[in-house]
Order: sequence, then C-alpha cells, then structure tokens
Amino acid sequence: MAWQIDLSGKKALVTGGASGIGYGIACALMEAGATVTVTARTSKSVRACETETGHGTLTALQMDVTNDLSIEEALESVDDLDILVNNAGTAIRKGLEFRVDRFAEVINTNLIGTMRLCHECLGKLVLRRGCILNIASMYSFYGNPLLPGYGASKAAVVNLTMSLAIAWARHGVRVNAIAPGWIETKMTAPVKDDRVRHDTIMARTPMGRWGTPEEVGAAAVYLCSPAASFVTGATLAVDGGYAAV
Ligand SMILES: NC(=O)c1ccc[n+]([C@@H]2O[C@H](COP(=O)([O-])OP(=O)(O)OC[C@H]3O[C@@H](n4cnc5c(N)ncnc54)[C@H](OP(=O)(O)O)[C@@H]3O)[C@@H](O)[C@H]2O)c1
Repeated sequence: MAWQIDLSGKKALVTGGASGIGYGIACALMEAGATVTVTARTSKSVRACETETGHGTLTALQMDVTNDLSIEEALESVDDLDILVNNAGTAIRKGLEFRVDRFAEVINTNLIGTMRLCHECLGKLVLRRGCILNIASMYSFYGNPLLPGYGASKAAVVNLTMSLAIAWARHGVRVNAIAPGWIETKMTAPVKDDRVRHDTIMARTPMGRWGTPEEVGAAAVYLCSPAASFVTGATLAVDGGYAAV
C-alpha cells in the first residue's frame, strides 16, 4: 500500500516561524500541501518571511506571544485554522535565568505564550476538528543547571499538552508535542560553537550528529496529519536517540 500524507486544504499557523525549527516545520507543512502562515516579532522579519519557498509563498503576521493585544490583532486576519504550531520560544543564557524577572520572562514566552495561543485559537480549531502541536525540549525531562526557566517552561509544556489533550478530546481537537534534541538553529549556535559542549553533546547522542529543522518538520507533518488521528497527549522525541541514553 502506498502511503502519502496530503494536507491540501488545511490551514496552519506556526508561531516563531521566521527561522530555525519553526521555519522547518512551516516548509514541511507547505510541502505536504497545507497553506501556512508564520508569525514573527518584527515587521522586518515579517517581510523577510514572505518569500517563495519552493512549495508556495509563506505568509507572515507580526505577533509577540507575550502580548495579548498583539495576538488578538494578528488572529483577526486568520479565518480558518486546522493546525496550530506553538514553536516560539526563548532561552536566556549566561546564568541570567536565575534572576526572577528573567525566569518569569522565559516562562511568559515558552509556557504562557503557548497557553495564550491555545486558548485564543481553540474556537477556530473546534470548527474544523483541528490539532495543536507544541514544541517542548529534551529539557522537558532533564534538569538544566544553566537554564532553570527554560527547563521549567518546557517541562510544563509537556504537562500542558497532556492536560489540553484530555480536556479538548471531546471537541475533536488533538494536542501533541515534539521534544527536539540538539537541532542546528540560531538558538543553539553558541552551544555548537563551544567545542567542549559540542563534543559532550555529540558523545551523548547515539546518532552522533546535530538534527535539522527539516527533520523536526517531518515529525510535525505526521503529528498534524490524519495518519496520527488516534494520537493525542503524546510527546515525540526527535533527538537522534539523546533521550534514550
Ligand atoms: N534548536 C534546538 O536544539 C531546540 C531543541 C529543543 C527545543 N527547541 C525549541 O524549538 C523552538 C524554536 O527554536 P529554534 O531553535 O528554532 O530557535 P530560533 O530560530 O531562535 O527560533 C525561536 C523563534 O521564537 C521566536 N520568539 C521568541 N520569543 C518570542 C515572542 N515573545 N513572541 C513571538 N515569537 C518569539 C523568535 O523570534 P525572534 O527571531 O523575533 O526572536 C524565533 O522566531 C523553541 O521553542 C525552542 O525552545 C529548540
């Protein structure tokens, strides 16, 4: 039997889709046939996103996931929605997440930003029996002595995914997460450039390499497709085996 995932006619919104994993997910969803809108924080990034991708033109909206008004304004131009991908996220390095104000900033973006979008989009998703995909992390499962806010936020994203999956199954809305391992993006560039950390990570990654945004995109297409019609509340690791060690 030939298998093919076809998301033609589906409308997707990917937060933080101007770069990295979000862009990889947006392109993969487009390649599968979906119409995709990404969000970016600045008007400059919005303009940069509105390019031909090889699978169609990406449209972009300006949105800050920590700002209710910005979310409301952006969603005014979204009519139908089948797929919401909560990808926008941040980490504040150099030990600054030990300051409570910076800790709160990370929680506000990664966790509360995810909940804001889930809450605001639920009505539209219910109408089309849509689905939500949240981006967690392997730090959802391990402590992180350098990024306490990031780890706490991503652990909570996994639990939020399960809670919303249970609550919204009766509306026909599936809610899943992906926990990416070490993926090459601008967020992880400082880690990749640090030879000691790079070597430590590679030694612990069974597949012995960094992942790509496209590889996360492929898993996203599966979870957002009818092929995953009985999958909800799950967190799928896309990490080259990192979490298995
Ligand atoms: N790369 C990895 O190895 C890895 C591993 C596990 C999980 N993740 C997660 O994957 C997601 C994407 O990260 P990435 O690695 O692709 O890094 P990235 O390229 O830096 O992407 C992060 C995106 O989130 C956006 N963003 C940050 N704060 C925002 C806010 N308040 N409102 C709206 N958008 C905001 C950023 O926009 P700006 O460009 O405007 O800042 C950027 O587009 C994040 O949730 C991250 O935690 C990454």
